[in-house]
Amino acid sequence: MKIHIVDDYEGMSAEAARIVADQLNRKKETVLGLATGSTVEGLYRELVKMNDKGLIGFENVTTFNLDEYIGLGPEHPQSYHYYMHRHLFGHVGIPAGRINIPAGLEEDSERTCRDYELAIKAAGGIDLQILGIGVNGHIGFNEPAGELKAETHLVDLSAETIKANSRFFESMDDVPRRAITMGVGSIMHARTIMLLASGENKAGAIKQTVDGPITTAVPASLLQLHGECILVLDREAASLL
Ligand code: GLP
Repeated sequence: MKIHIVDDYEGMSAEAARIVADQLNRKKETVLGLATGSTVEGLYRELVKMNDKGLIGFENVTTFNLDEYIGLGPEHPQSYHYYMHRHLFGHVGIPAGRINIPAGLEEDSERTCRDYELAIKAAGGIDLQILGIGVNGHIGFNEPAGELKAETHLVDLSAETIKANSRFFESMDDVPRRAITMGVGSIMHARTIMLLASGENKAGAIKQTVDGPITTAVPASLLQLHGECILVLDREAASLL
């Protein structure tokens, strides 16, 4: 793992944007794996600014989002479809046909998962996968468990994640209980992985990710097995390393 430690959230966002920009300028047809959450909002802000200045372009980029809640449609303000349009897609001109996010309202979720996995393969695989991390060490919505799934699948969210994500909803009861997520295999097949973390509430998960045993109890610890994994951390997130 390569670890970049910067001062704060702004520094993390700028450093991550620099890495994405390098990738886009090296390969115009880059396939990006995208994450949601408060951690990556600053990164998307930086990318929109760079795009506005003409320093990067998204015309030939293909994207695959990590996950989506089951039961929330694209118009729901807490859906990841809505988040992505608000923070990135609404500003940078990626052709709609190249944007991929798991559908949270499809009846046949198993089929949605299978098709998503096939679409990633058909696009040639992910060049750069952006990740946040849950306080419990989850990546995407791959929650700590005795077993993890390799491919895109349906998942029951853990009580910890429901509680952590309830800050975005009116009440805990409004948080969806299930989601579709890319699997740890879908993530690990990316050519490069970049995980971002900010704030001391992520310090424990980061410590276990970097120094802990490789275990399904901390899904992010599997990243130790990836040859091209970059962690961009602010001082607080890196404080236990
Ligand atoms: C959600 C997402 C993850 C994200 C995590 C952390 O559960 N499914 O992909 O990494 O939250 O979110 P935040 O960045 O808001 O702490």
